[in-house]
Amino acid sequence: MADSPAHAVNAKLEINGTSVSYPIMKGSTGPDVVDIRKLFADTGAFTYDPGYKSTASCESALTYIDGDEGILLHRGYPIGQLAEHSSFMEVCYLLLNGELPKQAELEEFSYTISRHTMLHEQLATFYRGFRRDAHPMAIMCGVVGALSAFYHDSTDISDPEHRKISSHRLIAKMPTIAAMAYKYSVGQPFLYPKNDLSYTANFMRMTFGVPAEDYEVHPAVEKAMDRIFILHADHEQNASTSTVRLAGSSGANPFACIAAGIACLWGPAHGGANEAALNMLHEIGTPDRIKHYIERAKDKNDPFRLMGFGHRVYKNYDPRATVMQKTVREVFDALQVKDPVFETALQLEEIALSDDYFREKKLFPNVDFYSGIILSAIGFPTTMFTALFALARTVGWVAQWNEMISDPAQVIGRPRQLYTGPTERDYVPVEER
Ligand code: ACO
Repeated sequence: MADSPAHAVNAKLEINGTSVSYPIMKGSTGPDVVDIRKLFADTGAFTYDPGYKSTASCESALTYIDGDEGILLHRGYPIGQLAEHSSFMEVCYLLLNGELPKQAELEEFSYTISRHTMLHEQLATFYRGFRRDAHPMAIMCGVVGALSAFYHDSTDISDPEHRKISSHRLIAKMPTIAAMAYKYSVGQPFLYPKNDLSYTANFMRMTFGVPAEDYEVHPAVEKAMDRIFILHADHEQNASTSTVRLAGSSGANPFACIAAGIACLWGPAHGGANEAALNMLHEIGTPDRIKHYIERAKDKNDPFRLMGFGHRVYKNYDPRATVMQKTVREVFDALQVKDPVFETALQLEEIALSDDYFREKKLFPNVDFYSGIILSAIGFPTTMFTALFALARTVGWVAQWNEMISDPAQVIGRPRQLYTGPTERDYVPVEER
């Protein structure tokens, strides 16, 4: 890191009769961090923090979240302002480079990305190995990982130019890969990218266009999709980003690292929640059934949770959910659609937010609560939702991966453990057991 955080007073700890003190690191904003790197060497003890609820795994200058206040900043800029005024390409540039681009820089960057949208032709045959009903995320994991077998010329992670090219390739090729996963599932031919279209319009055309007809994306839908990409671009050290960093810490190539991130994102507690949230809303069906599901969500003996509700960091309304809810209305107006599921979602939110259980536990709608409703109105099947999340999050993953590789403090990620298994014992031959 260029600027190391200031070290203030020390934190004191007494352990096994030994007194130790460690520096308290201060970021530009947010909680202080106790630098415990020497704890094991000094005391022979580890810290225990499953789920990293109290652990900062790295230094980062990319994204900041204040979960209590419901604030999300990318390089200092509030997500609401970016969603309202910026474009996904501009946000990509911002995340990768630290500053908003000047007009010429934005044009050059967008042009560069557009020159990397095609896949190696051999990769098209890769898809045919999958069943037609394969989940798009299964295809994404496989195809993105396989990129490392095709782009050997950009996998030297110690070369900043290689890192830049592979970052551009990943951002550029992800829409092509996701659109092809969709096309494969519906049995339609793959469409090649059309580079005079915007990043988002190109993706929409590759997904919903067919070779037999011209395809024009509705401007309001293009704007909404672009905004959805912005809302998902990065989110600090979440599970998939931490997975990318951990995979990358061993020196693995970026395509393999992003494939690892995609695998992690797939889970229903993370990116898979948008699919799960819409499935849940359909299952609830009508507003009169909401109370029953609220009761189930509160019941400790029932594994059911309100999907799209709650967040490890936000203990307030997720600012992305605010934008998402507004975008639902815009898309519905533009496409002149009405979906009773939106009404159910609005009422579910209202009932949950006035319920003591959700209030006390500070459970609010997260970004996934409304995103499925828009994506479904646009025409995406639920199985594509998480693939779209992966597409948009790729820029965050590569920006975080680049930041990690450039950080002199970076070492291979290797957590320790609290061992509770048997202590040493002698092997017993099978006939004596
Ligand atoms: N419905 C009902 N109760 C919930 C919910 C929910 N959606 N979320 C949390 N709780 C309860 C838990 O049961 C727990 O109660 P307890 O203290 O009585 O045991 C308490 O709230 C705290 O929950 P944890 O699971 O400990 O919180 P954690 O920070 O580990 O989990 C998570 C956060 C995984 C997002 C959780 O809220 C959840 O499962 N939500 C539903 C899935 C979801 O929407 N995920 C998307 C996250 S955003 C993203 O990845 C883009």
